[in-house]
Amino acid sequence: MTYSTIAGTGGYLPERVMENKEFEKIVDTTDEWIRERSGIKRRHIAADGETTSDMAVAAARKAMEAAGVDTGDIDLIIVSTTTPDKVFPSTACIVQRQLEIRNIPAFDVHAACSGFIYSLDIADRFIRTGGAGCALLIGSETYSRILDWTDRSTCVLFGDGAGAVVLRAAEAPGVISTHIHADGQYEDLLQVPAGISSGYDQVRKARAYIHMKGHEVFRKAVAVLGEIARETLAANQIDEGDIDWLIPHQANLRIIAATAKRLGLPMERVVVTVDEHANTSSASIPLALDVAVRDGRVKRGELLLFEAFGAGFTWGSALVRY
Ligand code: ACO
Repeated sequence: MTYSTIAGTGGYLPERVMENKEFEKIVDTTDEWIRERSGIKRRHIAADGETTSDMAVAAARKAMEAAGVDTGDIDLIIVSTTTPDKVFPSTACIVQRQLEIRNIPAFDVHAACSGFIYSLDIADRFIRTGGAGCALLIGSETYSRILDWTDRSTCVLFGDGAGAVVLRAAEAPGVISTHIHADGQYEDLLQVPAGISSGYDQVRKARAYIHMKGHEVFRKAVAVLGEIARETLAANQIDEGDIDWLIPHQANLRIIAATAKRLGLPMERVVVTVDEHANTSSASIPLALDVAVRDGRVKRGELLLFEAFGAGFTWGSALVRY
């Protein structure tokens, strides 16, 4: 039996750090409001000209170094992003070129903030069925480019960055189970209402920004994340006491705390980066994992629960023995 396992992690954050205080000059808000309602203190913002693929490549190189693999070992690249460099080619193909890897499958996954969980589910299936032996999974996002910087209810919540993992074939799991879901009926609650087939003019009219009914999204996120955690524990016949670390999508500290409470997990066993990174969408879980691996909190052999919720709505979880 073949399984997949996380061989190495990497992360990249743009150099520019934007503190909450800076928003006080842009919109009608305060550092205090942002901290209290979201837990966010600061975020990183991509430099002019710095793209999703640039950040993805930087995170990928660190993950490959940590895994002890080189570009010749990689036989699958998946990039999860909702902020691709171009309509096409895919960001994964641009990353492939930049890494000088040739003739292996490379594609993007678009599942908003749940994108990394979707990628993990797909790559795990590739590896378990022999379609790949060493996959590079990257979540990379440049949300600063799809923010309405005059809308205080959204612009304070997001940041830019990339996280990556190298997933390798192994004799023992690794990835124990993945659970992915979607329900398309909530489009109006969270969207960027501009696209290609629906009329490119919309982009020119500058509607290509995040529109979010935050309160409704919040309520749905807390409910669904509680359910998916329970679904994952039940599927594996374990309870919360078996989980060493909850590594959730980093949208809002209140959502994270509510999910941990529902699960009966103390916050000491939850990896939190939303304070430093804000919401980096599909980059947030691999970035949080990388931070916790590198600062020594997450150790080999520990049991990790990833969970995410995002536009679509999409949501998902993964139980992983690191
Ligand atoms: N500064 C000051 N006041 C603000 C700000 C701000 N930055 N933003 C909103 N407000 C005001 C509102 O206008 C409202 O004022 P009103 O009562 O006079 O109308 C008041 O604060 C309360 O607004 P709420 O939206 O009810 O505040 P809430 O406590 O729900 O917090 C937040 C807002 C932080 C957006 C929260 O709802 C949230 O985090 N939602 C979920 C975000 C999320 O998880 N997104 C999913 C992932 S993103 C993705 O998939 C792309």
